[in-house]
Amino acid sequence: MVASFRSLGLSALSLVASLSPSAAQLSTFTTPLTPNGLSFSINGVYYYSSPFASGKVAVPATSLLAVPSIFGCFKPVAVVNKGYITKAEIPNLLSNFTAIDDVFQPAFAQAIFLAGPGAGTCKDKNGLPYEVKGKGYEGSPCTYIALEDSEIPSGPYVLEVSSGSLYPVYRLYEDYAASFMASLIPNPDGTFQTMSAQIPGAASLTIGVPSRLYFTKTAKKPLAGVRLGVKDIYRLAGVKGSNGNRAWYNLYPAANYTAPAIQNLIDAGAQIVGLQKTSQFANGESATQDWVDFHSPFNPRGDGYQDPSSSSSGAGASIAAYEWLDIAIGSDTGGSLRGPAGSQGLHSNRPSHGLVSLDNVMPLSPTLDTPGFLVRDPKLLDVASAALYGKNYKSMADVAVKYPKNIRTIGFPANTSTSASSVILNKFLSDLTAFVGGASEAVTLASAWAAAPPAGAQNATLSAFLNTTYAVLITKEQIPLVREPFYRDYAAANDGRRPFVNPVPLKRWAYGDSLPSTELASAQQNKTIFMDWFNKEFAPPALDDAQCSETLILYPQWTGDQNPRNWYSSGPGVPFGFSSSRISVFAEVPDHVFPIGQVTAKSAISDHDEVFPVTVSVMAAKGCDGLLTRLAIDLVEKGIVLQPKTGTSSVDGGKILMRRAEMMGF
Ligand SMILES: *[C@@H]1O[C@H](CO)[C@@H](O)[C@H](O)[C@H]1NC(C)=O
Ligand SMILES: *[C@@H]1O[C@H](CO)[C@@H](O)[C@H](O)[C@H]1NC(C)=O
Ligand SMILES: *[C@@H]1O[C@H](CO)[C@@H](O)[C@H](O)[C@H]1NC(C)=O
Ligand SMILES: *[C@@H]1O[C@H](CO)[C@@H](O)[C@H](O)[C@H]1NC(C)=O
Ligand SMILES: *[C@@H]1O[C@H](CO)[C@@H](O)[C@H](O)[C@H]1NC(C)=O
Ligand SMILES: *[C@@H]1O[C@H](CO)[C@@H](O)[C@H](O)[C@H]1NC(C)=O
Repeated sequence: MVASFRSLGLSALSLVASLSPSAAQLSTFTTPLTPNGLSFSINGVYYYSSPFASGKVAVPATSLLAVPSIFGCFKPVAVVNKGYITKAEIPNLLSNFTAIDDVFQPAFAQAIFLAGPGAGTCKDKNGLPYEVKGKGYEGSPCTYIALEDSEIPSGPYVLEVSSGSLYPVYRLYEDYAASFMASLIPNPDGTFQTMSAQIPGAASLTIGVPSRLYFTKTAKKPLAGVRLGVKDIYRLAGVKGSNGNRAWYNLYPAANYTAPAIQNLIDAGAQIVGLQKTSQFANGESATQDWVDFHSPFNPRGDGYQDPSSSSSGAGASIAAYEWLDIAIGSDTGGSLRGPAGSQGLHSNRPSHGLVSLDNVMPLSPTLDTPGFLVRDPKLLDVASAALYGKNYKSMADVAVKYPKNIRTIGFPANTSTSASSVILNKFLSDLTAFVGGASEAVTLASAWAAAPPAGAQNATLSAFLNTTYAVLITKEQIPLVREPFYRDYAAANDGRRPFVNPVPLKRWAYGDSLPSTELASAQQNKTIFMDWFNKEFAPPALDDAQCSETLILYPQWTGDQNPRNWYSSGPGVPFGFSSSRISVFAEVPDHVFPIGQVTAKSAISDHDEVFPVTVSVMAAKGCDGLLTRLAIDLVEKGIVLQPKTGTSSVDGGKILMRRAEMMGF
C-alpha cells in the first residue's frame, strides 16, 4: 500500500496528538512493556541481572566513563556496605567477597560504591561526591563513589547509568543433571517469574543464583541467602506446576498462592532458584522406562548413569551435583526422600508425620505424606527444619543432649561379612555404639510380631498384615484427590478426552480402582495397629527431654548397589510387600539418612572401577527429629558420618564423569 505524503503526515500528526500524556493513556502504553532482566557475561562467566532494582545511587555523569557498559547504559559495579571500612581495607575485602561468593568477581570492582561512615571520605566539603582514582583490586583502576542509599547490601550489581538504579546480579549455571523443571527469580510482590536467560547446554535449563553477599543471616532470617530447590509438587505463587505431568502443566493456571510450607522457608530468608523434577504424581518411577513425559534427572555419582531414584529425583541429583545449590525440599510418602539420598549419598530427613501443613501441595497419601530435605550439611538441615516445621521441631543443636544407649538394628549384615558395604555398615554401628556409650542388638520385626501379635492383627503375619496397606493408601487417597478432578477438568477442556499419564501411576490407580472402597479404612486401621505396636515396643519416647527417644533404630539404606538407568526392569508394578523402609511410613517416626561411605566396583557402564554410596537409615521416637539431626551433626564432627561432597564421589568430590575433559582439538 502506498500512501500519499500528505495523508502520512496527517495521520502521524493525529497519532502524536493521541499520545499526549493523560495518565490513563500513558498507562495503556507503558503497562505491556515488561523487562525480564538482562543477561551478559564477564570473563566467560555468565550473569543475569534481575529487572527489580535494589535501590538507586546518584552518579556523577562523567565519573564512570572508564567502566565498560552493556548496551551503552548498564555497567557492572560493586557496592561495599560494611560500615566502618577504610579504602585501604577494600582490596582485602574484595578478595573476601571472591572467596565466599561464586557470583562476585574482580571485574565488578571497576566502580565501587561505598556506603556507611567510610563513604564520608568520598564527599567533598560541600557534601558532594567526588571521585578517587587509585589502585584498586588486583591493580585495576577503580572509581569510588559514595552510596547514598545505605539499605543496599554489598555485592555485585548492574548500574543503569541514566537512572542510577542498581540491579542485583545472578550467576548462571547449566542444569546438566537435568534436575530442574523451571528456573525462577522472585518478584517484589512475593510471586515468582521464569528467569529469562539461557546459557549453552545440551537440552538443559539455565539456573540463576543470587550473590551470597546480598544476604545476612539474622535470628529472624536464619536461612538468609540459602539457595533452595523446590520439588514440583509444591505450588508457588505465579508459577505453573506440573506434578511431573505435561497435560497437568498445560491445563492449569499458575498457582495464586505459595504453599505455606514453602512460605515458611521464604520467610526465613531462603532464596528459591527453581522448581525441581518429580517422578509423575510423586509415584516411584525408574529412569529407564517409566519417565515418559519428562526425562529422569542424572545421578552424578559413580559412572553418572545410575538411577537417581524417585520421587524427589531432581532434589537428590542437584544436591549431589551442584556446589552452588545449598538445599532442596522434596517429600517422602514411601521413600521419595530416602531413595534419592541413598543412591546419591546425601543427608535427608523423612520427618515425623504431620509437622507442617501440606496445603497447596499435591498429595499422594495425606495419611503418609511428609515434607523433608536433601542436603549435604546437617547443620543446615537443622536450621531449615526449624524454619519449615516451626514449633513442631525441637532443635537440639545447641542444647545438652543425652543420646539413647539402646541401639537396635534391623536387617544389618553379619559382622563377619567381608563385603565392602557390610564392613562400612558394621564399622558405623560400632562407632555409633561407642559414641553413645551404649550397646546394640539385632531385632527381627516379623518374629517379634509373631511372638506377640497386637490385638486386632488377627494372627496375621506381619508381611501379610501390611502387604497391601501402602498400595491401598496411596491409590485410594490419590485417586479422589488428584486423578478425579484432573480427569474431569481435562475432559471439560478437551472435548471429553483423557490426559496422558505415565505407566506407573496408571498401573497403581488401576489397582486402587479394582478394590472396594472399604479397603481404605482397612489400610488405615492396619497402619494404625502397626504404628501403635512399633512405637510401644521399639521406639518409645524417653521421659528425659534431653534424650527424647529410648532407642535408635537402624537399617541399611543403600549398600552401593548398581542400578544403572539403562536396565529395563519388569515393567510398572504396584508396591506390595513390607520392608524396613516402610516402618517410618506407617509408624510416623523420623527416619534420617546418613551417608557413611562408598564402595568401589567395576561399572557396567564405564567398564572401569567407580564409586557408589553407602548410607544408613536412623530412626527414633516420633517427634525426635531434632535428636537425629543433632546426631548427624555430631557424627560428622567425629568423622563417623560424611558431610558429602558434590561430584563423582560423595567422599572425595571430583568432576562428574560426563563433565570431564573436553576432547582436545574440537
Ligand atoms: C577478610 O576475611 C578475613 C578472614 O575471614 C578477615 O580476617 C578479614 O578481616 C576480612 N577482611 C575484611 C576487610 O573484611
Ligand atoms: C486461589 O484460587 C482458588 C481457586 O480459584 C481460590 O479458591 C482461592 O481462594 C484462591 N486463594 C487465594 C489466596 O487467592
Ligand atoms: C565386629 O567385630 C569386631 C571384631 O571383633 C568388633 O570390634 C566390632 O565391634 C564388631 N562390630 C559390631 C557392630 O558388632
Ligand atoms: C490367634 O492365635 C491364638 C493361638 O493360636 C488363638 O488362640 C486365637 O484364637 C487366634 N486369634 C484369632 C483372631 O484368630
Ligand atoms: C501381596 O498382595 C499381592 C496382591 O494381592 C499378592 O499378589 C501377593 O502374593 C501378596 N504377598 C504376600 C506376601 O502376602
Ligand atoms: C489388614 O489386615 C488384615 C489382616 O488382619 C488383612 O486381611 C487385610 O488385607 C489388611 N488390609 C490392608 C489394606 O492392609
